[in-house]
Amino acid sequence: MGQLTELTESFRRCTAQPYFFDRFYARLFELLPSVKPLFDKVEMEHQQAMIRKGITSFLLMAASGNADSEFLHGVRHSHGEEGMKLTGRDYGYWVDAMIDTIQATDPDYTRELGDAWRRVLERGIQELMR
Ligand code: HEM
Repeated sequence: MGQLTELTESFRRCTAQPYFFDRFYARLFELLPSVKPLFDKVEMEHQQAMIRKGITSFLLMAASGNADSEFLHGVRHSHGEEGMKLTGRDYGYWVDAMIDTIQATDPDYTRELGDAWRRVLERGIQELMR
């Protein structure tokens, strides 16, 4: 199996667990409590869509070598200087929270899989910060 297929399968195993999204946000707020208030008025459904869309775009980006510019433009706008003003440090915690949550949720998690996840997520964040 190719590595991206493995990551896609891993993400499917994770999101098959109903607690995956709650776990992610709990871990994010543990690592980065300052962003918790940003989510006070955001519906859980919307939060889940954000994760699904974000991870899917990062996987597609890694598979195709092309950044989805419309997606990046939207997230840059809402998360960057003109919006929530998130920094590279904030995104670093986002990546850590995601990998911790995948590790805690995916029964087939391995060290290699975690390293592959980190490469794809960090590459996506790099594009986001460009
Ligand atoms: C510490 C990091 C992050 C924080 C605190 C954060 C926070 C938020 C919040 C509060 C919203 C809801 C905005 C609203 O509807 O009022 C949102 C939306 C969204 N986020 Fe994030 N986010 C983070 C990282 C990311 C990353 C890395 C991605 C991409 C993988 C992403 C993708 C999205 C998308 C697609 C939406 C919905 C559309 C939009 O508002 O642009 N977020 N985020």
